[in-house]
Amino acid sequence: MSRELDTAVKAAKAAGEITLRKFGEISSREIVQKEFKDFVTEVDKACEASISSLITAAFPEDSMLCEEGTIAEGGSGRRWIVDPLDGTLNFIHSFPVFSISIALRDPEGEILCGVVYQPVLRELFTAEKGGGAFLNGKAISVSSRCDKESFLIGTGLPFKEYHYLDSYVAMLKEVIHDSAGIRRAGSAAIDLAYTACGRFDGFWEYKLYPWDFAAGVLLVREAGGTVTDFEGRADVFLKQSIIAGNATTHPMLLEKALKHFHPELPLKP
Ligand code: IPD
Ligand code: CA
Ligand code: CA
Repeated sequence: MSRELDTAVKAAKAAGEITLRKFGEISSREIVQKEFKDFVTEVDKACEASISSLITAAFPEDSMLCEEGTIAEGGSGRRWIVDPLDGTLNFIHSFPVFSISIALRDPEGEILCGVVYQPVLRELFTAEKGGGAFLNGKAISVSSRCDKESFLIGTGLPFKEYHYLDSYVAMLKEVIHDSAGIRRAGSAAIDLAYTACGRFDGFWEYKLYPWDFAAGVLLVREAGGTVTDFEGRADVFLKQSIIAGNATTHPMLLEKALKHFHPELPLKP
């Protein structure tokens, strides 16, 4: 394991302990509404402070992009992308599905390593570019299912951006017909990790941010899957939409996204 991945794992696990100490006991005084339907807790902030200080101490030349605003500008050209708590609404509601997501991008935009940690289950998903993907140290791969009547597909339901709600619902209707079931877990990082290990056969969501998907995208690719945006582009950082899946589900979901979504999805802010 590289020193980078080792540091990301340590940072994710330390943040995981912070979440577990407060899970089920968060009070309304510790929750702030950042924007319309967008919440942050003291735990998100404590996790971010812990992760950013560990990473900055180990790699002072690297930059950082963290969801809750921590920024570091180093000279290396590399950037750590951190979601300190993915699934904040679940966490606030004591719904035990949330994760910590940490990824490192090189100056060319390649994702070098990624970690998604689900503290409640103590599940650690890791990947390094070219080195495969792992769950608690065991190699994982995307599912090989190709029969649509057996697919379990993950998604993220729109909750505050209604511009494309009708397109989303039209696509959802088709995926309902072409799957055995659909899940909305509430953490995009977990959705991608579950796609990487074959629990989900595929995943789609729009209006995601780099911290939601950077680590998970590498997990799926290193597990043998395909990830693009809703227009089929491999550079998922250009837009805010993600389709992930195996050799059958990725083309199936992409075909539906191309049919229902306007080609000009909003550019990243
Ligand atoms: C959210 C989760 C959720 C997705 C939202 C994200 P947060 O992240 O990943 O599954 O549907 O779009 O914002 O706010 O809990 O870090
Ligand atoms: Ca997130
Ligand atoms: Ca978050």
